[in-house]
Amino acid sequence: MTTTILVLNGPNLNMLGIREPEIYGGQTLADIEAMVTAHGNKLALEVDFRQSNHEGELVDWIHEASGKVAAIVINAGAYTHTSIAILDALKAVGLPVYEVHLSNIYQREEFRHYSYISAAATGVLCGFGAKGYLFALEAAAAKTK
Ligand code: DQA
Repeated sequence: MTTTILVLNGPNLNMLGIREPEIYGGQTLADIEAMVTAHGNKLALEVDFRQSNHEGELVDWIHEASGKVAAIVINAGAYTHTSIAILDALKAVGLPVYEVHLSNIYQREEFRHYSYISAAATGVLCGFGAKGYLFALEAAAAKTK
């Protein structure tokens, strides 16, 4: 078993820093990637950090991770609330999945309260800002030991 963690980010997360900073904070996705990679290294994990605005690309990346990574951390953005395809892909590969949201989706519009991803998730972290990714890495690290 490798100790690589695939960290997937869905649509519009490339706009962090510009996008609704009152909700998502001022950090860019590159800032978050640097934080997550550094924290991963402390935990002896290699981090493969990616972002896509395309549902099919996220599905392809999940398939390719099969047998190659120890866990998937995923912030699927708005696909969280719509994508049976991403749910099915996560179920297909059978890896531990940690679902992350920067914001507390339960404090927001009702359409954000339902997550398709959660049915495939080992754990869900939301409302902790970018720290949610770090907590997810810690959970993943604990499982690889
Ligand atoms: C999000 C919450 C989603 O509802 C939203 O569509 C996003 C970001 C979050 O990180 O809080 O794009 O996943």
